[in-house]
Amino acid sequence: MQTDAGSVMIDREQIAQRIDALAGELRDVYGHGPDAKPITLIPVLTGAFMFTADLIRRLPGPLQVFPISISSYPGAATKARQARVREGLTDLPDDLSDRHVLVVDDILDTGQTLGLVHDLLSAKAPASLRICVLLRKDVPRVRDVEADFVAFDIPDEFVVGYGLDYDDYYRNLPEIIALPPGGAPA
Ligand code: XMP
Repeated sequence: MQTDAGSVMIDREQIAQRIDALAGELRDVYGHGPDAKPITLIPVLTGAFMFTADLIRRLPGPLQVFPISISSYPGAATKARQARVREGLTDLPDDLSDRHVLVVDDILDTGQTLGLVHDLLSAKAPASLRICVLLRKDVPRVRDVEADFVAFDIPDEFVVGYGLDYDDYYRNLPEIIALPPGGAPA
């Protein structure tokens, strides 16, 4: 089941090269060396865990990580439902006013998830608030939310691997795989 999920859309080499370049884009914005702005990085679990791990290894400046958990695709469903905060922002500092917040998510799809996250964080008035996504799907957005940093633009196909799941399987695959129409093979 795991190895026959579908066809490789983005392979490991492409992922590694693009994340190198993306880290460079982030260093250009946040600075590097002694003048680097500290980043408060907020990964959206679970899908962003692998992307986050690879990205932050390429960001040597001051950086703190405060993961949050959002639920939008319960069970095996591949159709968007209402996004909701699963565990809240409990570990996040109350005062973000002097913090440069960078949200890291796996996919910008309809925008409901990142719209919710953006609402929650902008209410805390951080010094800056930016969004970085591994994938941006070419679909109409339900919520008007923009990503500031995008690793890959992809067509409207359901993808798994590299942290992304179908019914919580496939997150461990090192490539980004497009599932065949109709879902994963049994
Ligand atoms: P929205 O529609 O809120 O969706 O922008 C964002 C979240 O939905 C999940 N998602 C996917 N997960 N393959 C996945 O494994 C996909 O193709 C896919 N599209 C959306 C994901 O959790 C994302 O953060």
